[in-house]
Amino acid sequence: MCSSLADHFCITMLRLCHALAVALLQIFIFSENQAFAKNINFYNVRPPLDPTPFPNSFKCFTCENAGDNYNCNRWAEDKWCPQNTQYCLTVHHFTSHGRSTSITKKCASQSECHFVGCRHSQDSEHTECRSCCEGMICNVELPTNHTNAVFAVMHAQRTSGSSATMPSLPVLAWVFMLLWL
Ligand SMILES: *[C@@H]1O[C@H](CO)[C@@H](O)[C@H](O)[C@H]1NC(C)=O
Repeated sequence: MCSSLADHFCITMLRLCHALAVALLQIFIFSENQAFAKNINFYNVRPPLDPTPFPNSFKCFTCENAGDNYNCNRWAEDKWCPQNTQYCLTVHHFTSHGRSTSITKKCASQSECHFVGCRHSQDSEHTECRSCCEGMICNVELPTNHTNAVFAVMHAQRTSGSSATMPSLPVLAWVFMLLWL
């Protein structure tokens, strides 16, 4: 394939092409995996064995005054949230040393999620952080500061996000083909 005239240059180019092709193949596989992973996440969110009581129903970790997050989540009631709720609320009380004293998690309405964030109580020995989230058992973690004591609402752009990567796949396949010709 390489002429004797510019053998060295030609071999270098071939190697470069090969490296590029491998890189593109990896990108191709990676984006395929990503699309696949998104699908798996989506289906995990709605377990088929447990029929939903009504459209857009969801579950929250639910505990009352648990001592730590493990025990809250471990013994959380696994039941559907009532229809007048849309979010999962977490209320976390902890000492100035960061030790949890009380954790409450439950299904919540919009108005219950009005106050999120952290504030020191009057005695300033304790801090209360409140967070809300949207989605199936989304209230796994505890809010501990202003970064995570937030109202996290899902963005309904998951499908558009995955379709944005789709048109690039045939292009990548084309480039891949051209490199081997
Ligand atoms: C908030 O808490 C999280 C988890 O403990 C930590 O990773 C993050 O660095 C904290 N952020 C701030 C601003 O303290």
